[in-house]
Parts: sequence; C-alpha cells; structure tokens
Amino acid sequence: MFRRLPDDTRPAVTIDLDGEAVTAREGDTVAAAVLAAGVGHTRTTPVSGKPRLPYCMMGVCFDCLMEIDGVPNRQACMVRVREGMTVRRQSGARGVVA
Ligand code: FES
Repeated sequence: MFRRLPDDTRPAVTIDLDGEAVTAREGDTVAAAVLAAGVGHTRTTPVSGKPRLPYCMMGVCFDCLMEIDGVPNRQACMVRVREGMTVRRQSGARGVVA
C-alpha cells in the first residue's frame, strides 16, 4: 500500500525491528519506515488485542505506539530513525517508565 518514490535518493538507514533488519531512509520517522517495510501492525490494543497501525502520522491518534530503544509507549510517528535503532511492536498494555 505504501511505496517510496522512485527518485528518493536519501541514504539508507538500517533499524532492528523485532530482531529483523529493516531498511529505512534518513529522515524517515519510525512509523513511515515501518509502513514502507510493509509490516502488518505496530501494536495490539490492551483490551481487545486487535492490531493497530499508524493512522494520523502527526502525533494525535496514538495508534503508532512502539517500544523504541527500550522505551515503551513512544509515538513512532514522532521519532526519526537512526542507524542501529531497536524497535519492538507492543502487545497490550505496557508499564510506565519513570
Ligand atoms: S500515527 Fe497517530 S500519533 Fe502516531
């Protein structure tokens, strides 16, 4: 559903998504990189367990919550990728990090 423009010449950035290498582009948000990679979902809901994907891409809906570099509940649409970043899908509720 999501495809990169053919003339996108930005340098490649590799992130670790649930233990698998995913190639993103410099300047991508984590949410954009995940959608471009064709990943099925970014989290499941705490109540029903239904899969969710980034929706608004501007920090409003919170459907993009992921664990990024060990910190849960981060909005993937508000964080830019960097080389070696670790990203994990979330299943259900996560604790609060102080
Ligand atoms: S996609 Fe809506 S807050 Fe990130």
